[in-house]
Amino acid sequence: MKKQSYQFEYEEYNSMEELNAEDALLLKLAKEETIHAYAPYSHFSVAAVARLSNGQIVKGTNQENASYPVGICAERVLMSTAASLFPGMAISTMAISYKSSTIESNKPVSPCGMCRQALAEFEDRTAGAIRLVLGGETGAIIVVNQSRQLLPFNFGKEDLEKS
Ligand code: THU
Repeated sequence: MKKQSYQFEYEEYNSMEELNAEDALLLKLAKEETIHAYAPYSHFSVAAVARLSNGQIVKGTNQENASYPVGICAERVLMSTAASLFPGMAISTMAISYKSSTIESNKPVSPCGMCRQALAEFEDRTAGAIRLVLGGETGAIIVVNQSRQLLPFNFGKEDLEKS
């Protein structure tokens, strides 16, 4: 038996003012974009805004449904949109924020497990790491250099291939 460990480094900022200008802009756009979420059930409006490697900005918001599991998270709406409008283009940075009518948005949001899986495959298929900038309306901001760091031992395409 060998003991193994998994560690990764991330950055934590106290406020938007500490971010570089490009990240601050993306997070600002994500905060503004929550208005386009459709979240009548959770009242938790999420927006993801990405800068692609060609410089284009693409946005997505969560879209819920009366049949709850049909709803889709902001991150996956964004990735589907990016892949459809700009096939094969990598996402350099994705900022994610949220607003809620029932709870305070004063700490970073973190992508759900399903989105982490989708993010990892998006990185693979575009051969590019996705930086994540995670923030609420106020409070600390977390920057992760590569989204797959949030999903160690992820299941992927190679698991379906003969070894
Ligand atoms: N949600 C997202 O869109 N992204 C996240 O990172 C976390 C959760 C959505 C799903 C659902 O519409 C609502 O937020 C509450 O879970």
